[in-house]
Amino acid sequence: MWLFVSFLKNEMNTADLKQDSVLGIAAEKQGAPSRLHSSSTQVLYTMTAALGQRDTYTHAHAQRVAAYSRRLAQQACVSSPDLDNVTLGGMLHDVGKIALSDLIFSNKQASLSKELQGEVQSHPVIGAAMLRHARCNKVICQTVLYHHERIDGSGYPFGLKDHEIPLGAKIVSVADCFDAITTDRPYQRRKTLYHAFRILEEMAGRQCLDGNLVALMVKDIQTNGIEHILPASDTLFAAFK
Ligand SMILES: [Fe+2]
Repeated sequence: MWLFVSFLKNEMNTADLKQDSVLGIAAEKQGAPSRLHSSSTQVLYTMTAALGQRDTYTHAHAQRVAAYSRRLAQQACVSSPDLDNVTLGGMLHDVGKIALSDLIFSNKQASLSKELQGEVQSHPVIGAAMLRHARCNKVICQTVLYHHERIDGSGYPFGLKDHEIPLGAKIVSVADCFDAITTDRPYQRRKTLYHAFRILEEMAGRQCLDGNLVALMVKDIQTNGIEHILPASDTLFAAFK
């Protein structure tokens, strides 16, 4: 596993960073069935389990983001097979963090040095490359690769704008932010749901997040609560083994 991750880090450092080179020709075409080969599923589970060994927060965060992403995708009328692809994208969105240095996981400060920030920002590319090697389909790879892109083009790794960002990545992006705001971290206490909604709406107003998706998520949780979403995460993860 570590040799594989090391290989990918070198590959990403030396490659001319182009989206097609990350997604690769081996990835299946968009809209292809989400069913994965059992060996690939095992590899993916091993990757997430290995990440959980290094960082328990990221592991639990991945399960919650998968559950929020699935629910939001349903609200946005995403149907099968992409509903499953987006769910898996949510589960695996940070899997590239397995390649980050221990300094980052042990850091308890809100801010990082420029060098460490750069390393953190490599995780979508590394994650997508790992999934490509595991022969994940293109929707899952794209969701992981683009989950830190922002509507106004201020995101990373490519600075894509609104219409260039796939819907699955926009969904995971909203789910990712919502979970980061509503959970405790070493440097930040979790916010109330009311406060979290205001922050998401403010991010949508600044063209960071998709406004329609934020409105869907806020309305759904205000109407139906949050409890009906979260229990699904354990089920999702169990089905993934
Ligand atoms: Fe991420």
